[in-house]
Amino acid sequence: MIVHKSVTAFAPATVANISCGFDIMGFALEGEGDKVTVEVDDSPGREVISITGKYAGLVPQEPGKNTAGVAINALLKAAGKENISVKITLEKNLPPGSGMGSSASSAAAAVYALNRLFGNPFRTIDLIPFAMEGERAACGTAHADNVAPSLLGGFVLIRSYEPLDIIQLKTPSDLYCVVIYPHIEVKTSDARRVLRRDFPLNVVTRQSANTAALTAGLLTGDYSLVGRSMNDLLAEPRRTMLIPGFAIAKKSALEAGAIGCGISGSGPSVFAFSSDKNRADKIADAMQKAFREAGLNSDRIISSLNAPGAKVINEVDF
Ligand code: HSE
Repeated sequence: MIVHKSVTAFAPATVANISCGFDIMGFALEGEGDKVTVEVDDSPGREVISITGKYAGLVPQEPGKNTAGVAINALLKAAGKENISVKITLEKNLPPGSGMGSSASSAAAAVYALNRLFGNPFRTIDLIPFAMEGERAACGTAHADNVAPSLLGGFVLIRSYEPLDIIQLKTPSDLYCVVIYPHIEVKTSDARRVLRRDFPLNVVTRQSANTAALTAGLLTGDYSLVGRSMNDLLAEPRRTMLIPGFAIAKKSALEAGAIGCGISGSGPSVFAFSSDKNRADKIADAMQKAFREAGLNSDRIISSLNAPGAKVINEVDF
C-alpha cells in the first residue's frame, strides 16, 4: 500500500526521573524538540534516513541504528507492514547526551508521524513501546520515562514495564521547571553503567517513600512535600561525579528559592522547580553562574509541567 503523502511531526524534549523516580517518571518541556518527516516509498524493503538540523552530525546516520529508524521499524513490524519502505527526514534539534530526552524525541516524532500517515491505526499511548525500541538502540535499555511524556505530553508515571502501565498525572499549572544544559556530553549508557545494582532494604524503602510522597505533593500542590521528596538515593550519588559543577549548581538553585533540584534524566542537564516564574529566572541565573564557575557554558529552558506532547505540524498530499 503506497500512501502518496508526507507527514511531519514534532515531539518535545523531556525531563526524566524527577530525582526519586528513576526510570518511572518524566514530563514534557515546552519549546525545543526534534521533527521527523515520513513518506512511504515505492521500493519496498528498506528505510532511508536523511538528517538535518543543528545536531545532525552527532547521531547515527543509518536507519537501523538511529532511534527514529529503529522506532519506525518496530511500528512497521507491529502493523504487519515490514515490506513497506519509509523515507525518513530527521531534523535533529536536541543535543544528544544532554539529559533532555534527545533520542526519545526523535523516536517519538518518528512513530507519531508514521502512525498519522497510516491513518492512526494505533492510539498515541500504544506508540510508546515502538519508541522504547529506539531507546534500547540508543542506550541498551528500553526505558519509557522520556518517550512516554514526549508522546503524551504532561507528567507521566510508569507504574509497570511488564505489562506497560502508564499513568498521566495532572500537575499544578503554577509550577515551573528550570532546565540548565551545561555544554558537555554524558552518554546515557555511561551514566547507567556507573549505577549500583544492589541496594540495602532501607534505601529501597526511603526511595519508595519519596516517590509516593512526590506524587502526592504534585497532585495536591503541596510544594513543601514536593521539595522534601526530591531526594534520589539511587542514581544521583553516583552520577554527580559525571557533571562538573552539579553540586554547586544544586546548592545555588536551592539558595535562590528552588522547591527542589536534581539531575535531568541521566544528565548533564540539571532541573529545578519553582512556584513562581520570576523566581525561576533567578534560579536559572544562579545555576548558570555555578556552571560558568565550573568552566561550562550552558543553555536554559523554563517550562511548565503541562506541556503538550507530540503533534503533527505538516501534512502534504502528492
Ligand atoms: N531514566 C533514564 C536514566 C533516563 O536515568 O538512565 C535517561 O534519559
